[in-house]
Amino acid sequence: MPQLAKLIYGRNLEVMALELSQELGIAAEPILSSCFPDGESKVHIAGEIEGYSLLILLSLGNPVNDHLMELVLTADAVRAEGAKSVTAILPYMAYARQDRRDSSGDPRSAQVVARIFTAVGIDRLITVDLHTPALESAFSTPLTNLTTEDIFLPAIKSATRDVVVVSPDAGGLKRAQSVAKALGAEMAIALKERTTPKNVSGRKVLGNVRDKACLIIDDMASTGETLSTAAAALRDEGATKLFAVFTHAVMAPGAGEKISEAGFEKIFVSDSIPLPRPDSFTIVKLSPIIADALRRSIKPREKIIP
Ligand code: R5P
Repeated sequence: MPQLAKLIYGRNLEVMALELSQELGIAAEPILSSCFPDGESKVHIAGEIEGYSLLILLSLGNPVNDHLMELVLTADAVRAEGAKSVTAILPYMAYARQDRRDSSGDPRSAQVVARIFTAVGIDRLITVDLHTPALESAFSTPLTNLTTEDIFLPAIKSATRDVVVVSPDAGGLKRAQSVAKALGAEMAIALKERTTPKNVSGRKVLGNVRDKACLIIDDMASTGETLSTAAAALRDEGATKLFAVFTHAVMAPGAGEKISEAGFEKIFVSDSIPLPRPDSFTIVKLSPIIADALRRSIKPREKIIP
């Protein structure tokens, strides 16, 4: 049964919040967040909350832990005020890469974050291109994960023709496979080995890319090493044009330059993380598909105003 909804948002996604507010016809108000001198986070929610179906929109990009605290404190605040339900819309979900223990002594960080969400009363999640879809099982709450195809297919179709879809590593194979299937395209994989958190080696390509245009699909770019290494490997194997799609611009310092210098014809990225990125990147907005995901379950403000 649709509920009367209200959107509250972190300042880092003000543009997306206003787009969603317009698309859905619901009120949007910012989370008032600040910091104590010792670094503790503080949030305050000013508007009326009781009885509303609350949507919290926040991107968990850098500074990750500050944004995470902003989210969980906000969820607790709206629960305390009597929100009927709490949906967290997280265009970028931090900690999703740490979903398994690489060695003994490591935590299962993604699962820890999922448990915190439940503890503070978040009862539904909308995420975008989760690092691994298997992570959905870590959350006890209903989760809608919007995929690369949901976001980028129209943009890819209008900019490319006859591309080989390339996964830049074995972990991204399923994502690239889905895009290749949607395009009816051939596939290849660039094999990579991460030597340190900031360095990637590996130049082997499985699949035929000679004299072909290639489209690399990844969920995120952090240092830009994965994309630039894959681009070099594809060029060595005789690829002609290169395109790249990645959903989350995590963008460590220097990543923008590294990706720009890799010689891509076109680079598509979503606005899931509003950090600075080169003007040459084509930004694909998430608000239309997030609005579609929400539309069925909320009641717009306009319907109750006489
Ligand atoms: C790795 O598993 C991810 O899917 C990305 O390929 C990776 O996080 C990109 O990072 P970077 O830009 O630092 O190579």
